[in-house]
Amino acid sequence: MRVVSGIQPTGNLHLGNYLGAIRNWVRMQDEMGEGEQCLFFLADLHAISMPHDPAELKKGTLEMAAALVACGIDPAKSILFNQAQVPQHAELQWLLGGTARMGWLNRMTQWKDKAGKNREGQSVALFTYPVLQAADVLLYQATHVPVGEDQKQHLELARDIAQKFNNDFASEDAPVFTLPDPIVPPQAARIMSLRDGAKKMSKSDPSDMSRINLADDADEVMKKVKKAKTDPEPLPSEEKGLADRPEALNLVTIYAALTDKSVDDVLGEFGGEGFGKFKPALGELLVETLRPISERFNGLLEDREALDAILARGASQAREIAVPTLEKTYEALGLVRG
Ligand code: TYM
Repeated sequence: MRVVSGIQPTGNLHLGNYLGAIRNWVRMQDEMGEGEQCLFFLADLHAISMPHDPAELKKGTLEMAAALVACGIDPAKSILFNQAQVPQHAELQWLLGGTARMGWLNRMTQWKDKAGKNREGQSVALFTYPVLQAADVLLYQATHVPVGEDQKQHLELARDIAQKFNNDFASEDAPVFTLPDPIVPPQAARIMSLRDGAKKMSKSDPSDMSRINLADDADEVMKKVKKAKTDPEPLPSEEKGLADRPEALNLVTIYAALTDKSVDDVLGEFGGEGFGKFKPALGELLVETLRPISERFNGLLEDREALDAILARGASQAREIAVPTLEKTYEALGLVRG
């Protein structure tokens, strides 16, 4: 078993990232057996696909490394690094570029959403982004990739690229790439914005009120939960009563994920109550969950050298694992290496 996943170091780590992905990373790391490995990285190469400020990216990369460690990623157990220190990611992306198809990339919903009507004005990197993402996991022969719902399509593309490459350039008994499985949590795979139940919680939403950041203090968390959009109805006693109430469903889902209960169990407790009772309970639960994380985060940020050292060590471990697969790929393609 080899677990690989990444996060873009742009903006703050938010509750959607945490419940949809990072919490699972920590759980998988802690359940690792002998000979198994977890690799987690900051997708800084992906971040340059959108207009960005270099100084912000640098700062964001170190902050995201600190945030992951604060959430429980232990650099002694997992390999934690940023892509830019492992050039094999970019190299493999190019090598896979001959296999990926324009039509496949054109169907990616993230590309369609981000480009909107202005496809011609987008960077080439935004279009080829999923090929780099495929390289990220195929480079390490990942078997499991814990992600939120929104990244599932990119992982399916990674499987398609791996399959086509193996078919075209490898024999059946000696495939070059392992087909990775996306691991999406049963609940909290898609946490929605606190301002609009039809939009996912996202770092790029201009309104900070739409998301809970892991570094928010208790007052901010309580304020955001109290101001979260809801409806005037009391909570129902079963999940099906929330079918047309996306904002209410989102808040109950967050509560359920934080307590490791089902939505029905939470409604068993709060059914019949209004948001005047539910929101303070949710706010307090969030504050209690985030307090230790933000304390650790603030402590880690004070030691910039320690963060640099964690990333440098992780990158050197990652490069070692990456090289054999990269060499096999060059070889399979008939590229001459000295
Ligand atoms: P990113 O940085 O947008 O998000 C990191 C992880 O958080 C999950 N996530 C969510 N889960 C539930 N609800 C939400 N509202 C929510 N928002 C984000 C994402 O699904 C993701 O798991 N392209 C990726 C980064 C990446 C990557 C990879 C991931 C680059 N290479 C290889 C896996 C494997 C991204 O932009 O995630």
